[in-house]
Amino acid sequence: MIILGFESSCDETGVALACTERGLLAHALHSQIAMHGEYGGVVPELASRDHIRRVVPLTRQVLDGAGLSWRDLGAVAYTAGPGLGGALLVGASVAQSVAWAHGLPTLGIHHLEGHLLSPLLAEPQPTFPFLALLVSGGHTQIMKVSGVGEYELLGETLDDAAGEAFDKTAKLMGLPYPGGPALAALAEQGDEHAVQLPRPMLHSHDYDFSFSGLKTAVLTRMRQLTAAAAHERETASHDGIAMVPPSTADTAAAAWTVPLQARADLAAATQAAIVDVLVAKAVRALKDEGLTRLVVAGGVGANKRLRRKLQDALASVHNAEVFFPPLEFCTDNGAMIAFAAALRINAGKAQFNTDHAFTVRPRWPLDQIEASAELF
Ligand code: KG4
Ligand code: ZN
Repeated sequence: MIILGFESSCDETGVALACTERGLLAHALHSQIAMHGEYGGVVPELASRDHIRRVVPLTRQVLDGAGLSWRDLGAVAYTAGPGLGGALLVGASVAQSVAWAHGLPTLGIHHLEGHLLSPLLAEPQPTFPFLALLVSGGHTQIMKVSGVGEYELLGETLDDAAGEAFDKTAKLMGLPYPGGPALAALAEQGDEHAVQLPRPMLHSHDYDFSFSGLKTAVLTRMRQLTAAAAHERETASHDGIAMVPPSTADTAAAAWTVPLQARADLAAATQAAIVDVLVAKAVRALKDEGLTRLVVAGGVGANKRLRRKLQDALASVHNAEVFFPPLEFCTDNGAMIAFAAALRINAGKAQFNTDHAFTVRPRWPLDQIEASAELF
């Protein structure tokens, strides 16, 4: 069966075709990053409107790309949550409309299930059971995955998600949205040992995380660096050199008064702190659960240091292997939604909706996935 899948939970419009026998057939994506970049973060109303503009051309693109027509489709899948309410409604209503027009059933997919199963899009595929480290902009979770639809939450963040920690600290350093890739790039020029930052909950006897203390430490450090830069400017002007201080009214402008090297050192130290905690907890959970396969999913899974450090840490664990989704499928995309639907169908766990009444769930814990299935 061929499934058309839509992803529109946040700032990426993704459309894809997956087949229950042949896997992913085609996918197309439009990222709204440039549009939201101007505002320093996602503007939900703009996101919804842009999804509306993009979704139909992207759908044509995947059908043409795969050489398929509406008649070839067997079902339509869409991200039913969690995410931005308005943005989710665009994908859901387009999916229902297509399904109604062509007499097809629909399948509401959990966004995190899409991420969780996305490493199965690559070869070699991890086999069940595996441990999943889910690190996205909205979530940081360690899950035990025993099969499709069998997810056990072992630990999660108590405050900010790892991606959020990257994004918020990057903003403090004057970097553009989304902060994760920008901070990682700046960190390459920095010395992680130049600044000491906390590694919250590193030694707690659980698999939970907390990143808000790290954000406060970075804020404090940036304030010190900004004050030192202002002091230097003042000293320079006393020496007779006329200097016009840049406006420090907003964070980015203030951050730009700090020398690049000092910001690069702070970026390197921040990335090291986030990665250290993620690696330590994931590896401990893997050992405690007696598992050997670790799967990393979500946008932060694109981080090169995280990939390298996990590989290094697992090299000393007997038989352990780590699996990452292909880079293009780390951040949000339609492929993971169509593909998760195909896996559910193959596993006999697809609850199809044929009456085209639907709802979306902006908040939807992954461990309630089965209980909520009848809603879609
Ligand atoms: O999974 P995703 O696309 O969206 C959500 O479902 O949240 O993840 C986006 C997050 C953002 O916080 C972004 O800054 C982060 O992933 N990210 C990265 C990198 N690439 C994306 N964080 C660190 N290093 C990266 N290379
Ligand atoms: Zn995501």
